[in-house]
Amino acid sequence: MRHLLTLLEFAPHEVEDLLRISRDFKTRFLAGEVYTPLFPGRVLLLYFEKHSTRTRLSLTAAAAQLGMQTVYTTPNELQLARGETVADTMRVVSRYAAAVAARVYKHETLDEMARHSSIPVINALSDRHHPLQALADALTLWERSGRLHNLKVAFVGDVSNNVATSLAIIGAKLGWEVRLVGPKQLWNQKLVDELAEDLAKTGARIYFTDSINDVAGVDGVYTDVWVSMGFEKEAEERRKMLRPYQVNSRVMDIAGKKAVFLHCLPAHRGEEVTDDVIDGPQSAVWDQAENRMHTAKAVLAYLLKMR
Ligand code: CP
Ligand code: NVA
Repeated sequence: MRHLLTLLEFAPHEVEDLLRISRDFKTRFLAGEVYTPLFPGRVLLLYFEKHSTRTRLSLTAAAAQLGMQTVYTTPNELQLARGETVADTMRVVSRYAAAVAARVYKHETLDEMARHSSIPVINALSDRHHPLQALADALTLWERSGRLHNLKVAFVGDVSNNVATSLAIIGAKLGWEVRLVGPKQLWNQKLVDELAEDLAKTGARIYFTDSINDVAGVDGVYTDVWVSMGFEKEAEERRKMLRPYQVNSRVMDIAGKKAVFLHCLPAHRGEEVTDDVIDGPQSAVWDQAENRMHTAKAVLAYLLKMR
């Protein structure tokens, strides 16, 4: 039994497998095979402590296409709100559901859920990681560039956040050069150390830089909101610190014509990205959002088939 909490628990060849399965699901879906009932009668629990549009809906659609039912809940509706422990909740949920996808404030909640679960736990975003997003990002870059390996990607802005971290992790698995472009105060050098084994294995290169000129020559320029959910107290400070890192036409010019623009969404237009870039010819953001559904199917198929 496996969980998907950070992507660190998957070997490079397993990440590739997940992406190939995703691509296969997408090809079949576009050819008209919407329904692939691999798990009829099984239930996917969606446990969400924070807002979501894409993750909630892509998992719901993915489950439906695999013949599964979903149950959506927030902590308030469960006995968790009245003091039942995460451990007891997971012991019970494991008897009903085939998998749980959880969006939590603290990553430690996912670790606790996984420790007491006998079904796969899928990270639907935590304060530190967003692995489902990284899979859709890699699929999108693969489609756009024709390559899965040896890509160069620059993440610009809040380089400390969940989306940046998961992009660096998937880049390490796939042998990419990931440039994390943002202010020094937000650099998480520990991440590079954690990835050392994968970097040695795949030849990937992950580094932090505060120079916006380092977007030059990349295959993808990626950004995300400056204030992630749960970090609202730091909003003002972050906006000030990150203003020089807005992705606008000047930044895309430095990156060059072959670079696609990526954003996990939701976007704060006018802050981390300008309208002309997100709506412009280099933008791949709607494909990225679409790909969330196909990568979600691959994750469910992979984790549930293994059981
Ligand atoms: N990209 C993403 O996870 O979006 P949601 O917050 O809408 O799920
Ligand atoms: N970094 C953002 C991603 C939202 C999908 C957040 O955590 O709010």
